[in-house]
Amino acid sequence: MQERSPVIELRNLAVRLGSVQIHRDINFTIEAGQTVTLLGPSGTGKTIILKTIMGLVHPSGGDVLIDGRRINDLSEEELNELRLQIGMLFQGAALFDSLSVYENVAYALREHGEHSEARIRQTVREKLEIVGLPGIEEKLPSELSGGQKKRVGLARALASNPRIMLFDEPTTGLDPTAIRLIDELVVKLREQFGITSLIVTHDIASARRISNRFILINNGLVLADGPVAEVERQSQSLADFINGNWRAEYAGAE
Ligand SMILES: Nc1ncnc2c1ncn2[C@@H]1O[C@H](COP(=O)(O)OP(=O)(O)O)[C@@H](O)[C@H]1O
Ligand SMILES: [Mg+2]
Repeated sequence: MQERSPVIELRNLAVRLGSVQIHRDINFTIEAGQTVTLLGPSGTGKTIILKTIMGLVHPSGGDVLIDGRRINDLSEEELNELRLQIGMLFQGAALFDSLSVYENVAYALREHGEHSEARIRQTVREKLEIVGLPGIEEKLPSELSGGQKKRVGLARALASNPRIMLFDEPTTGLDPTAIRLIDELVVKLREQFGITSLIVTHDIASARRISNRFILINNGLVLADGPVAEVERQSQSLADFINGNWRAEYAGAE
């Protein structure tokens, strides 16, 4: 069912911020329709990888390819085009507290130059339905639970009909039921809309439920990468990471 075309490809990616070498040689390819979880200790550069894919952080070496197209040297204008295809749910993706749910979701569309209020209304309705919150357009963020806020953030990220979704710790701080709802949405985005997802999470149980593949990074390198069951069986560093037995020796490649 899945097409085997590379949607996101990092080749020998290196990222330096100031004097700190965050990434040295990151390589992976994500194909259409995959749901991939990116794992690694805090501060290891997972968020930076997502931002690099969005063209928000510029690599110091290597290539970032989206649909086979190298994005390193795109102009700001070209990057804005590209970002329409990539939705991102940032960690703590805050809604504007003084704006209604409608205006929060509509904001993304207006930003991308949509002027027709009828089309905006239609899109907002459709995206709120997808995230299971139909009819809450007039509510304010203060009237929503943490999980509902996340889902409105997801509706906002979906406003431009992205083919790729990047999630940065989408379930951190949510209760188990809210986590389950977000998990179900990630699966729904893949099954119903063919969306390719890259997810950063520390919630291993949830990652096992929703993803096809784990990538473990540390110290600027990929330590493990493969189908969930296979890589869990074969990679000692991944097993130790998951079981809370992370060791400093996992500095480099396995
Ligand atoms: N703009 C920046 N300038 C310098 N260092 C940064 C910047 N942003 C993040 N860092 C550093 O890069 C490292 C990786 O950050 P991050 O991607 O947020 O890690 P993770 O998401 O894996 O926890 C951290 O040590 C962080 O302090
Ligand atoms: Mg992070």
